[in-house]
Amino acid sequence: MRLENISWEEFSHLDPEAKAPFLQQQGRPFHVLIAQQFDRHQLDSIGSLATQIRFIAKTRPGMDFLRDLLCGKRAMLYFTQPSTRTFLSFCAACQILGLGIGEVRDTATSSEFKGESQEDSVRTFSSFFDLIIMRTKEPGLAERMAWVLSTSERPVPIINAGSGRDQHPTQALLDIYTLQRSFERVGGIDGKTVVFVGDLARGRTVRSLALLLTKYHDVKQCFVAPAPFQIGRDILAVLEKTGVEYELSEDFEGMLTKADAVYMTRVQDEWDAHAGESARVDVSRYAFTVAHLRLLKEHAIIMHPFPRRHEISPEVDRDPRAVYWRQMRNGMWVRTALIVTIFGLDSQVREYYARHLQPGSCL
Ligand code: CP
Repeated sequence: MRLENISWEEFSHLDPEAKAPFLQQQGRPFHVLIAQQFDRHQLDSIGSLATQIRFIAKTRPGMDFLRDLLCGKRAMLYFTQPSTRTFLSFCAACQILGLGIGEVRDTATSSEFKGESQEDSVRTFSSFFDLIIMRTKEPGLAERMAWVLSTSERPVPIINAGSGRDQHPTQALLDIYTLQRSFERVGGIDGKTVVFVGDLARGRTVRSLALLLTKYHDVKQCFVAPAPFQIGRDILAVLEKTGVEYELSEDFEGMLTKADAVYMTRVQDEWDAHAGESARVDVSRYAFTVAHLRLLKEHAIIMHPFPRRHEISPEVDRDPRAVYWRQMRNGMWVRTALIVTIFGLDSQVREYYARHLQPGSCL
């Protein structure tokens, strides 16, 4: 199933699961647009590859090996919406792999300011670059651009680095990797309870992670938020369809005692339809302080996609269960693993790891 063989009209109306095969080439992700396109096998594979890359990058010969993998290729970072860590971790991932980088971070500095369409802008990027990584305010734009490029003479891969309030699939990949690493010694992700807290209505990281967690067995999802910020019906419909147990609540402290992972989020007031709209919602009860640490299980973890405001006190950072800084760094490794996978270089990385780093190998 190839994207160039289906009309935009048809493709855009498919269910996410039905879109997935169009985003693959030769059994691996080509475009990365929606969380639902990944299956459990791919999630495990990207996670184990990220770990191998982490270890390879600890040695000078390993760094040289990684840097040679995509030397001569170039990536375009088209980020017309603010970002710190997604932008920088993709930059770092490209640098690890030897990819050259170009960027547009403000359309006021590109020819879109002169009236060029987004389609023509993206086609222009594809003339000079081998990969386009894009963050936009518009949901679905990355999908449309992937389709536009598929019918052009340079159909380069597109990675969605955040699209409107809708999806942030690579954040969900790094969140899954963080959960995989954190629960390695306590039976993995299956069977765990994940408690999402904060502005769940407009948090695209929550939406993408909630969708990816449906790929695991018996993961209960709890959504703790004041009513105006509660998770969307569309996500709940997916959970119901896939038989996932979930709970909606306003009882933050009560839910903390049940959690294996607590996923805190900030108020996303950049999406307010009217100025000051979010400020009318009382979120003071949904902030994690040192006093809450005693409510957490010993193996439970605290996550946050960042940026944070007041929803986690900085004093909490010192607790070993606060993994959000590691979670952020995991983003660099997962994004490196994802780019390696897109370019079909994963076997080369695994062979290097087996030869040089596995116990018993000649280092
Ligand atoms: N988590 C996340 O997407 O952070 P940035 O907005 O800083 O990229």
